[in-house]
Amino acid sequence: MGAAHLLSGDLVAFPTETVYGLGADACNSKAVARIYEVKGRPSDHPLIVHIATMDRMGDWAQEIPEYAIKLARDFWPGPMTLVLMRSELAGDFITGGQGTVGVRVPDHAVALGLLAAFEKVGGKGVAAPSANRFGHVSPTNAAAVVEEIGKYLTKEDLILDGGPCNVGVESTIIDCTGVSPRILRPGAISELMIEECTGLPVLAGNLLTKSAEDIRVSGSLDNHYAPAAKVFLNQSPLPGQGFIADSSIKTPEGVIRLASPNNDEEFARLLYSALRAADAKGLSEVVVTQPIGTGIAIAIRDRLARAAKGR
Ligand code: TXA
Ligand code: MG
Repeated sequence: MGAAHLLSGDLVAFPTETVYGLGADACNSKAVARIYEVKGRPSDHPLIVHIATMDRMGDWAQEIPEYAIKLARDFWPGPMTLVLMRSELAGDFITGGQGTVGVRVPDHAVALGLLAAFEKVGGKGVAAPSANRFGHVSPTNAAAVVEEIGKYLTKEDLILDGGPCNVGVESTIIDCTGVSPRILRPGAISELMIEECTGLPVLAGNLLTKSAEDIRVSGSLDNHYAPAAKVFLNQSPLPGQGFIADSSIKTPEGVIRLASPNNDEEFARLLYSALRAADAKGLSEVVVTQPIGTGIAIAIRDRLARAAKGR
């Protein structure tokens, strides 16, 4: 379901293993323009093209380095986006006028079903940002998609419900245009995994330390991934404040506990819905005790640092 909607230029919100995406035919500039309208996002911010299998990489990209092929083989379908030199198929309305294009094969049965069905009717790929309003927290379930963008969709558009997302934070974005991979946005595919797969060092340039001038990676804007509530990091929560922390940390009297994950993977999975719950409960402040460590904890801290900057 959904391929016909894409073909006729309508939007289809769909689940992936990371977060829900708002999809359009990546070859249809009018349909893609509607993504920007619905999100309220500046149109020079590039979109990720979602494809059914890595065999389709060559449609969208060229001069693909050997290490990118290795990454695709090892981690697709999965929470990883590769930024590659674009082909002619990748229009300016996808790449924000840049010479590169982001591609990804998501690991979710509903997403893969949609992408395969779209391919069957002649589709080349589905452009999809996270299905939230610009700067907001990404949706990790279908209800959150409705909450974010429901009122901006028409009755021809579609929202596919695939339940809660398994990973919960957006894909690792890897710049594959240099001699060695570079992480543009941390995610579930970690630096160590990339180095082990490619045998190459991952170049420095983590977004946590990157200057704000590189707004082309919109997720790198300081004030992204933010709920309406103000987010404070690593403080003692006070009565009336929301609180998100590992289950080993107790909830002080009068504090509203929003999530108690047992490990970093669960932390990532629950984080965005817990931030949403703070807004739903009308809380004005949320305290988060960040997970320490590497792996997906790095992605969690990256998003929380931005959420803490506010809207
Ligand atoms: O997990 C994900 O990646 C989700 C799901 C739906 O696939 N998508 C997602 O898309 O997070 P979006 O648009 O919310 O974030 C993608 C980020 C943006 O910050 C965009 O600027 C960056 O990827 N991006 C896309 N193409 C790029 C390119 N050619 N060069 C640099 N950054 C790019
Ligand atoms: Mg996003």
